[in-house]
Amino acid sequence: MKPSAESELVLPESFLMGAATSAHQVEGNNVSSDWWALENSSDTFVTEPSGDAADSFHRWPEDMDLLRDLGFNAYRFSIEWARIEPERGRVSKAAVAHYRAMVRGALERGLTPVVTLHHFTSPRWFGEHGGWAAPDAAELFAAYTRTALDVLRAGVRHVATINEPNMVALMYAIRRHAAEHGWSGAAGAGENGAAAGGLGAVEPAADITQSLIRAHRAASTVLKAADLGLQVGWTVANQVYQAEPGARRTADAYARPREDVFLEAAREDDWIGVQAYTRHLIGPGGPLPVPEGAETTLTGWEFYPEALGEAVRHTARLLPGIPILVTENGIATGDDERRIAYTARALASLADAMRDGIDVRGYLHWSALDNYEWGTYRPTFGLIAVDPRTFARTPKQSAHWLGALARSRRIPGAPAGVPALRLG
Ligand code: BGC
Repeated sequence: MKPSAESELVLPESFLMGAATSAHQVEGNNVSSDWWALENSSDTFVTEPSGDAADSFHRWPEDMDLLRDLGFNAYRFSIEWARIEPERGRVSKAAVAHYRAMVRGALERGLTPVVTLHHFTSPRWFGEHGGWAAPDAAELFAAYTRTALDVLRAGVRHVATINEPNMVALMYAIRRHAAEHGWSGAAGAGENGAAAGGLGAVEPAADITQSLIRAHRAASTVLKAADLGLQVGWTVANQVYQAEPGARRTADAYARPREDVFLEAAREDDWIGVQAYTRHLIGPGGPLPVPEGAETTLTGWEFYPEALGEAVRHTARLLPGIPILVTENGIATGDDERRIAYTARALASLADAMRDGIDVRGYLHWSALDNYEWGTYRPTFGLIAVDPRTFARTPKQSAHWLGALARSRRIPGAPAGVPALRLG
């Protein structure tokens, strides 16, 4: 196995280096969304509602100023279907204008906008209609996408249709499971954690997987037909399933419905979004807990930065020739030095994959701001701290460090003591 290379990697001018957020997690008061309804219902796993979040709905110019000043050249954010179409067929012109202003605002600051159309939240009416289980879900999403073209026309090139469809389909399965067994069995099963927790046997709902793939294709058709030169993709949660000895087949079978099927659905796309945080060990009997004694983060995930390089390699194997954008990578920690250590190693593993010829076009750190982590504010992923009372923003040391790297267009070699790359 090749050890991590030691020399630095010089990035091309066009390489996107920035940070990411999603609307619901930072905007605040996303009152027409299904998530808002879930957070404020009594039958929920949510421990804390999103409320005002980081108030980025009003403070986005300040957020973008900070990202520019730190040295970044890209910002990934999502536009909110629940604001754009708060009631079925009723478009809010004000919401469209709001997001157009954000796109223009990013461009004016020299930040390339990478825009996600759907990041976990849907309008409440869509949820009540059956959500992704509704037979016409793909057409409804395509209709919203048609409306969203007015936002994209303001100067967007990179569009992601749906964020982590594999996690969306998994969440449906978890909700169905909870409907039968109650939320206590599903508590804490948020997103990436679900595979490692007690719900390891739950797999994405197959009907939802198919519906999301149909929706992605329908939306891509709309986006391409608009002839705006849009580069279309979607973003997948890469779980980095590592097979223990004798568990290769089990790991492959485990990965298929949870990840690979979603990657393969991107074969016709312009790019694929890789989102990696940690690894998941698979034994002959299925998923294993985090190894004893391993450092864990505020989400309970193993501190395993090399997940990024491995995720990129796995994705490139399944999608040869499709350019990769790292659309999320980061760590929930209250110790900013660990954030720097994690990100340095993650970037070194990425650089190593790029040196081996994998076509990576950008790195967008999750997250620009401390934000609402789907049920709680406790896990802090941000490069920039946000005071929950005053909403004052304070860039952390990690933000200055990563911004300086972005400015230098260089990824340093692997820090000392980094273990050799292990491919499962
Ligand atoms: C999601 C983000 C989330 C992050 C950390 C991804 O699953 O796209 O919305 O905050 O990972 O859990």
